[in-house]
Amino acid sequence: MIRRSIELPDRIRLVVLFGGRSAEHDISRISAANILRALDPGRYQVHPVGIDRDGRWHLDAATAELIATGRAAELPDALGVGGPELDPQGALEGATPADGGIPTVVFPVLHGPNGEDGTIQGLLEVLGLPYVGSGVLGSALCMDKAAAKTVLQAADLPQAAWCQLDRSVLDDEAHRVHVLSRLGATVFVKPANMGSSIGISRATGADDLLAALHEAFRHDDVVVVEEALTVRELETAVLGPAHDLRVSVVGEILPAAEFYDFDDKYRDGAARTVVPADLPEEVAEQARSLAIRTARALRVDGMARVDLFLTEERGLLVNEVNTIPGFTPISMYPVLWEASGVGYGELLDELVALAIARHHDRARRD
Ligand SMILES: Nc1ncnc2c1ncn2[C@@H]1O[C@H](COP(=O)(O)OP(=O)(O)O)[C@@H](O)[C@H]1O
Ligand SMILES: [Mg+2]
Repeated sequence: MIRRSIELPDRIRLVVLFGGRSAEHDISRISAANILRALDPGRYQVHPVGIDRDGRWHLDAATAELIATGRAAELPDALGVGGPELDPQGALEGATPADGGIPTVVFPVLHGPNGEDGTIQGLLEVLGLPYVGSGVLGSALCMDKAAAKTVLQAADLPQAAWCQLDRSVLDDEAHRVHVLSRLGATVFVKPANMGSSIGISRATGADDLLAALHEAFRHDDVVVVEEALTVRELETAVLGPAHDLRVSVVGEILPAAEFYDFDDKYRDGAARTVVPADLPEEVAEQARSLAIRTARALRVDGMARVDLFLTEERGLLVNEVNTIPGFTPISMYPVLWEASGVGYGELLDELVALAIARHHDRARRD
C-alpha cells in the first residue's frame, strides 16, 4: 500500500508543534503525546514545541530528554506546555540542525485558527522548513467553510444548499426571510472559521435563526447557513502527495446528541464510530471517490480527513475537510488508516517522508 516517493533519512529532527490558541488545545496535547510515543527513537530526534493558550511558544526540553533516553512510555496522556519561552523563530531555529546536516521536518499538530488555517504553514514556508500536511492555500481554504464551499461549488461537487452572510443580515429581516425561504425552515448556522462545532446551531424559524446568527457572529465575521438534512456522517482519510492522494476505508460516526457537537466529540465521548462503515460496497466506493475529488479541489497535500454526509434526499454530499485531523488513540484519521493496512507508526513515517519529498521537489524547481 505504501508508495513512498523518497526514502526516509536515517536521522530526522522532528519539531512537533502542539497546543495552540484554538479551542482544540487539549486535543492537540493528547495527539502530540500519542505521536511522540509512536516515533522510532532510533530515527527521530524529537523537539516538542508547546504553544500555550496565550500563543506563547515553549521549547519542551524535558519531554525531548525523556524521548531521547528511551522513556517515551513515561509520557503523560496529554503533553504539558512548559519549558523556556522563545519567540516562534527561536523555537524553530533552536531545533534546526546546527551540525551534521540532519534534516528538520516540522509537524504542526495544531487545530483550528492559527494552526490549521495556513498561518503557521506560511511561517514555515518563509523559514524554508519542510512541514507535514497541506500548504498555505489548501489549509486556508479548508479552514474557511465559506471559501471551501465556494470552491466545491465551482468544482461541481455535491453539498448541502448554503449561503454566506456577513453581519449586515442582523439588521435585514427581509434577507433573513429570504434565507429561510431558500434553504428551508430548519437550517444549520456556522461561523466560517471555527471548528469543533463551536458557535454552530440548528435553527428553526425566524426567531431561532436570529439567535443562531448572533451566536455565530460572536466567533467570526462571516457565517455560513445550510439547509438541515437528515444525515449519516461518514469520514474518510486521504494520504499522499497532492497529485497522487490515496484514500482509506470509510468510517461512520454515530453521534449521541442531536448533532455531532463539541461535548459529543471531546467531553462525553458518547459518539460511537464504526470502521469500516456498514455501507453497500458501491456507496463506499462512491464516498472514496468523492473524498479524493474533494481533497484535490481544495488543494489538500499530504493528509486530510474528508467528512461526508450520506442523505436520503440527495445521496452523498461533502460536509467539510480537516487538514490537521486529530491523532489521539480514538481519532478517526489514524483509525481509518489502521483499518486500511497502514499502522500508526508507518503513517507518521509516511507523512514525514511526504514533507521531505515536497521540499526536495520545490528546491529542484526554484
Ligand atoms: N447541513 C447539515 N445537516 C445536518 N446536520 C449537519 C449539517 N451541518 C452540520 N451538521 C451537524 O453538525 C456537526 C458539526 O458541523 P460541521 O460543519 O462538521 O462543523 P465543525 O467544523 O465544527 O466540525 C456535523 O458533524 C453534523 O452532525
Ligand atoms: Mg465537522
